[in-house]
Amino acid sequence: MILPSSGVESEYDRKSELKAFDASKSGVKGLVDGGMTKIPLMFIHPHYNPDAKSGSAVSQFRVPLIDLDGVDDNATLRAKIIDQVREACENWGFFQVVNHGIPASVLEEMIDGIRGFHEQDTQMKKEFYTRDFKEKVSFASNFDLFQATAATWKDSLSWAVAPIPPHPTELPAVCRDIVMEYSKQVKRLGYTLFELLSEALGLNVNHLKDMDCAEMMFHAGHYYPPCPEPELTLGARRHTDSGFLTVLLQDQVGGLQVLHQNQWIDASPMPGALVINVGDSLQVITNDRFKSIEHRVLVNSASSRVSVASAFGTTLFPSSRLYSPIKELLSQENPPKYKEATLQTHVAYLRGKRV
Ligand code: OGA
Ligand code: NI
Repeated sequence: MILPSSGVESEYDRKSELKAFDASKSGVKGLVDGGMTKIPLMFIHPHYNPDAKSGSAVSQFRVPLIDLDGVDDNATLRAKIIDQVREACENWGFFQVVNHGIPASVLEEMIDGIRGFHEQDTQMKKEFYTRDFKEKVSFASNFDLFQATAATWKDSLSWAVAPIPPHPTELPAVCRDIVMEYSKQVKRLGYTLFELLSEALGLNVNHLKDMDCAEMMFHAGHYYPPCPEPELTLGARRHTDSGFLTVLLQDQVGGLQVLHQNQWIDASPMPGALVINVGDSLQVITNDRFKSIEHRVLVNSASSRVSVASAFGTTLFPSSRLYSPIKELLSQENPPKYKEATLQTHVAYLRGKRV
């Protein structure tokens, strides 16, 4: 695919470049397949200076790892797991889990399925290309292509389970079965996690589920193609997730980083593990006790990377339901930091504060 030449900077017509890119319906993968060696201007992040000191190699910090083995049948282990979850959500907003009950074969097949979608013939992908993310299934590059100051180096296949999953025939044939299976299993894991989070807050085990935290789901199967100039762009700029909780499956390539004590720490891939993070909505209802933490994705020139983000609670489908900090967590010393409002209002407020 050929993009209009960007020419000299003064003549640069960013809007046309974005439109041509979007109209190609081929995503970033389409650019890479075209053999390009310099990334188009629209992807260049002006303020992104890759910090040579970022990454785990230079830090003593590690994203907490929690072993869920025994969570359902061993009271002593469950109590220990709940302590670890509380600690991780208060201090990191991120943790990884192993022995979470989703078989390694399902994780592997899911990565393969999403890779299979993105690496299939472009014509097959184009029929799913849309910016209407309320469609049950959509393929697009950059959800916020026309809003963001710089585009990111990724394409995404998204599907919503809100609250009814897509019919299998609505999904791309190449990954249909595994997407249905993985979505089902990750929802079950979500229930377990919301139970643990409820108990970690000292609440009834069903409290968060009863607030409908696990009902709406949005999944994004990301593909980060190899990038000829990885130091000029990002796979995902620094951001927080807007929902209650995200479960992230990643392949073994790496690139996800979490901001912790002002350092970018690698959420390093581990076979069989899933990355869990607190979103803005959970931060609000816990009155800032559990933290929604900024994270980003770096790209590299050597290999493509696949990840699947499953967000519980999504502000994509506006709901009139009002949320405020959970009463049981409040006291005279801990008054509510948020008024009653819709999740969209809360998320917009939090984001405004962070800029
Ligand atoms: C996201 C996200 C990280 C990744 O989808 O919100 O942060 O590693 N993804 O793909
Ligand atoms: Ni994210």
